[in-house]
Amino acid sequence: MSQLSVKHLLGIKYLQPADIELIFETADHFKEVINRTIKKVPSLRDVTIANLFFENSTRTKLSFELAQKRLSADVINFSVGQSSVKKGETLIDTVNNILSMKVDMVVMRHPNPGASVFLANNVNSCIINAGDGTHEHPTQALLDTYSIRERLGDVAGKKVVIVGDILHSRVALSNIFALQKLGAEVKVCGPKSLLPKHIEAVGVGIETDLRKALNWCDVANMLRVQNERMDASYFPSTREYSQQFGIDMPLLDSLDKQIVIMHPGPINRGVEITSDVADSDHAIILDQVENGVAIRMAVMYLLASKIQ
Ligand code: CP
Repeated sequence: MSQLSVKHLLGIKYLQPADIELIFETADHFKEVINRTIKKVPSLRDVTIANLFFENSTRTKLSFELAQKRLSADVINFSVGQSSVKKGETLIDTVNNILSMKVDMVVMRHPNPGASVFLANNVNSCIINAGDGTHEHPTQALLDTYSIRERLGDVAGKKVVIVGDILHSRVALSNIFALQKLGAEVKVCGPKSLLPKHIEAVGVGIETDLRKALNWCDVANMLRVQNERMDASYFPSTREYSQQFGIDMPLLDSLDKQIVIMHPGPINRGVEITSDVADSDHAIILDQVENGVAIRMAVMYLLASKIQ
């Protein structure tokens, strides 16, 4: 397979396993490129990409922009705070105005689930979902699974537990789809109030005892508690949450085996994981960030080849 089966990256659920493998192989090449002295290649020269961020971001926004610059694309950035969206302009009008400036590709983060699918159905451009509400965050799942492959050699056959706020997490859903498509076994672990009601319907196991989950897994992906998406209190206190669902070094040291610790960021240090765990050799958090640039270069490079 030398081409993706899709014209947009809207969610992992729309990808074939072979698409993910192609993205990984392409990212292997770009990872070598970004570790050279001269980190830039002309692959997307004359391609113009708009980054539309309707919601805050550090990692994803900077990673996409750096990936675009490494590929020699022309880049424009849009932040909702300084835009005419504040004057009542619709999403479709906003994007069509940007596209009329001869933009070839749109990367969008939006607080509403389904916003990227809506955009892809209503404008004539290549759309990349950089996170849509509680729905999907496909490039995060790609960089997460790529980082597991890098650390453990393969994703197939590995056991991964996703811990914490599954209910409000787009990272969880995209990771579940990506891990399953690549042949991993997935469990979720967290307070019952933060597990979606019918989560087992997507083929994951449920474990509410963190120690059992950690003794089962090869990899623990520790999700951030997303206070900004909570309209009520989902657990008694942050202290009790971290006591039951946080990882510290004594807990890691007491396990039957060594496991890999991941976190998509931003970390609430001392809540999901303590600082010594975050900064230890168990954690691949900064590898995830580094791999994000190579993965996003691969995604944009492969999608650009499908633009008419
Ligand atoms: N992981 C992630 O999406 O981080 P940002 O919100 O900073 O982009």
